[in-house]
Amino acid sequence: MTRPQKFWAVVPAAGVGKRMNAGRPKQYLELGGKTVLEHTLSRLLQSEAFAGIAVAVSEDDGYWPDLPVASHPQIIRAKGGIERADSVLSALTALRHLAADDDWVLVHDAARPCITASDIHLLIGTLRDDDVGGILALASHDTLKNVDKGSILGTLDRSHIWRALTPQMFRYQALKNALEMHQGNPAITDEASALELQGQQPKIVEGRPDNIKITRPEDLALANFYMEQQQ
Ligand code: C5P
Repeated sequence: MTRPQKFWAVVPAAGVGKRMNAGRPKQYLELGGKTVLEHTLSRLLQSEAFAGIAVAVSEDDGYWPDLPVASHPQIIRAKGGIERADSVLSALTALRHLAADDDWVLVHDAARPCITASDIHLLIGTLRDDDVGGILALASHDTLKNVDKGSILGTLDRSHIWRALTPQMFRYQALKNALEMHQGNPAITDEASALELQGQQPKIVEGRPDNIKITRPEDLALANFYMEQQQ
C-alpha cells in the first residue's frame, strides 16, 4: 500500500526586518493583540492542511519562547540562517526524519499574516498532481519600467509579469536539492528561483491581493484592515 501524500509547511521567521525601523523584528510586531508570526502560524494551523510546520527562528531570538504557539505539537523549531534561503533549508533539514522525498512542502513567509485557508487549499488543489509544483502569484496591473541610474531604459511587457507571493509549493527532496545546489547565490530570493535554475518551470496560481508581506511600517495598518475585511 502506498503511503498517503503529506503536506508540510515551512515558515522562515529569522529576518530582522531592517525596512521597518521598529526596534524588533517585523514578525514580532503587534497586530490586533497578537504578533504577526502568531497570526501567520494560526492561519496555517487552522487550514488543517499540514502534517507539521517547521519554523526557522534565530538562535538568539528572545521572543519566540514566550509565544504559546511555540509549544504546539505540530510546530517544529529550526535554526534561522543568514539569508531567507538558508533559513528555509535549515527548516527542511529539521523535517528530514518526518517528510518523504515526494511529500509536498509549502514555504510561507512569516511576514504574510493575511494568508487565507482558501488560498492554501487553492494552491494545493491545483498543484497536488503536478510534477514540479508552483507558487501563488499576482498579475501586475502597473506599467513596469526597466530603470538604470534614475533613467528609464524601457517598458516591460506586463502581460508576462507576475508578482511572486507565498506559499510556494514544491516536493520535499527536489526543493532541498535545489536550495543546497544554489546556496549563497544572491539570485535565489524565493523557492521558485532555485527550481528555475535547475531548469524547471514552476506553475503560477493566481492568489488573493490581500496576501501582503509586511515590509514597511504602513503595511501593518493595511494588514489590520484586510484582516477585519476577511472576518
Ligand atoms: O526580508 P523579507 O521580507 O524578504 O523576508 C521574508 C521572510 O523571510 C520573512 O518571514 C523573514 O523573517 C524571513 N527571513 C528568514 N531568514 C533570513 C531573512 C529573512 O527567515 N535570514
